[in-house]
Amino acid sequence: MSDAALDVVEFLLTTSVYSDDRTLDENDLPPSYRRVFWSSGGTGDEGSDDDRARSGDGRAGISRPLSATNALTRRATGVERPWDAVSELMFTERDEFSGTITLAQREMAERWFAERVGEDRLRENPTLAKRFADDDEFEFDVTHEEARDRNRPIQADRVWIDGLLEEYFDDEEDEEMLDLVDVRAPEEVDITLDDLVLTEGQEAEIDKIAKAIEHRDYLANIGLREIGKLLFVGPPGTGKTSTAQALARDMDLPFVEVKLSMITSQYLGETAKNVDKTFEVAKRLSPCILFIDEFDFVAKTRRSDEHAALKRAVNTLLKSIDNISLIEDDVLLIGATNHPDQLDNAAWRRFDEIINFPKPDYGMRADILRVITRTMDIEEFDPQLIAEITEGLTGSDLRMVLREAVLEALTEDRTTLTQEDLLDAVEEFEERDSLKNMDMIEGDHDALVAGGDIGKASDGGHDHSHDDHDHSHDDHDHSHDDHDHSHDH
Ligand SMILES: Nc1ncnc2c1ncn2[C@@H]1O[C@H](COP(=O)(O)OP(=O)(O)OP(=O)(O)O)[C@@H](O)[C@H]1O
Ligand SMILES: [Mg+2]
Repeated sequence: MSDAALDVVEFLLTTSVYSDDRTLDENDLPPSYRRVFWSSGGTGDEGSDDDRARSGDGRAGISRPLSATNALTRRATGVERPWDAVSELMFTERDEFSGTITLAQREMAERWFAERVGEDRLRENPTLAKRFADDDEFEFDVTHEEARDRNRPIQADRVWIDGLLEEYFDDEEDEEMLDLVDVRAPEEVDITLDDLVLTEGQEAEIDKIAKAIEHRDYLANIGLREIGKLLFVGPPGTGKTSTAQALARDMDLPFVEVKLSMITSQYLGETAKNVDKTFEVAKRLSPCILFIDEFDFVAKTRRSDEHAALKRAVNTLLKSIDNISLIEDDVLLIGATNHPDQLDNAAWRRFDEIINFPKPDYGMRADILRVITRTMDIEEFDPQLIAEITEGLTGSDLRMVLREAVLEALTEDRTTLTQEDLLDAVEEFEERDSLKNMDMIEGDHDALVAGGDIGKASDGGHDHSHDDHDHSHDDHDHSHDDHDHSHDH
């Protein structure tokens, strides 16, 4: 019997058990199933998606009974021809008119399924885990509770998020709100912590916060509430945003991003209200991560002689931050800034952990290069050597270098890169970089190249503390260059 049959029977059984057992809720359905049964409520005029189930009562949610048409089963299971996959089984039935597939003999279907399903798979389906754990006839070492714990919560599903946002920001006057806040479901984040090279300090902080989230009931009980507000500090391109997103993805939390610079948009009168709303939404979406980028904006605004409405908005923001908590509201707040020096005390003291995002040192650069080239073909690839000649470059810069190398190779119709391509791309990048500096600073080229503070922010370890912009420009002073540049080209 094919896997397709097992997939379809699992789905049919789940709909049947779920329909009968009223103690089960949305979080007992695997995400791919509940997605097809989710109704955003309202009049159901949201378009042509005709095989989406709808609840008649106008409320967002999943309403019983669940019925499985061929099309719906296809979307939930990914099986191309669901009915064909199970039509030979004795316990299945299809209503030709409505296209609904049902289990004519549920007990027989259960026995058939129980003989074929593994415990690992059962653990991924809380509805069936409960059904089979509850019944002595079957001997699975699986509990309903553990399956529920493993299952992604409905709060992390896009459909749920959209329903909630619609509820909150339905009127036209809230349009500008969409500029201020951006919500992403974890399934829509495409970066994971595995894709990021972190310092030991960063990893330790992340472990700590993951533990705190896991044990928040305990922390609430012992009255420890001042945790769960992190500030990521570091130069551009060092992975602050990526790390926050990866956390959301790996912990299955919606990612709510506030774009502070949008606060200055034209509808200032509404801004304070919108900031309030953003935090309300975050609380409703909880557990979630609330990410506030460009946090230095707050301090700048408080200091400067800004519009009164803008100051009001920023004060609302600070108050909202005070009133939100990981322990009570299940919201993990992460702020990020490139300009820690511009933060005032009022801003600093709102965060309980400051996490440093330095420019990567030699070892990290080599690791980042390995990570970002994981899926690429590179002949004679020597990440260590590239790491040596890229001091001062961030993760983001290294990505740019790789992109350049890939595009260059494509112009020669090559999809296999060589180490030489990478070396050329590094050189290209540095030229570009010095042009960038030239625009900003007046003065002659030599002064300009020697003057940067690149490399300063590295966090030690394998750090080589010289200025790397001297490299590969042969007209420059190499006196503090301790590398062997055997790759002359
Ligand atoms: N340590 C790292 N490991 C792997 N990739 C990294 C690292 N740092 C940065 N990157 C990559 O560089 C790109 C930019 O990173 P990101 O946007 O997270 O930087 P940022 O610190 O938020 O910058 P900014 O301050 O400009 O917002 C991303 O594609 C990210 O994956
Ligand atoms: Mg960022």
